[in-house]
Amino acid sequence: MEFVRLLLVFLHLLGMAMLIGTFMLQAKAGAGAPVNKGWLHGAGLQLITGLILMGLDPINDEVEYNPIKIGIKLLVLVVIGGLALGFLRKPTAPSWLNPTLGGLVVLNVGLAVFWT
Ligand code: HEM
Repeated sequence: MEFVRLLLVFLHLLGMAMLIGTFMLQAKAGAGAPVNKGWLHGAGLQLITGLILMGLDPINDEVEYNPIKIGIKLLVLVVIGGLALGFLRKPTAPSWLNPTLGGLVVLNVGLAVFWT
């Protein structure tokens, strides 16, 4: 069971890396570029791995998660996914979108690490 949790944390961290990588790609693409689909892939991976980690919590003796913290992280992720989805069909992403999405990802990393 501990191996499964570690595998999920491993994928969860790769999902975070994917989101930060997408932030950099989006910044490089500059104004006038459409929303990079990496936002949705990264957000989807975070959602799936995070929910499974939460689901395994009751049968995992190693850790105990704070449900309020996870709820807020979930909310932040829904905003990230909602914003990315909302602008997916538009030909260009507004200039505020990339820093906002990147900031929300960093917010979730901060919540994950500093809120014990
Ligand atoms: C942008 C979205 C997210 C980012 C960047 C993110 C980032 C992180 C990071 C960096 C950790 C490791 C913290 C540490 O080990 O000290 C972590 C752990 C965790 N995250 Fe997330 N997270 C996100 C979304 C979510 C969501 C939506 C959920 C749940 C639905 C979730 C559930 C968890 C859980 C349960 C852990 C603890 C894993 C463990 O140590 O056993 N995360 N997250």
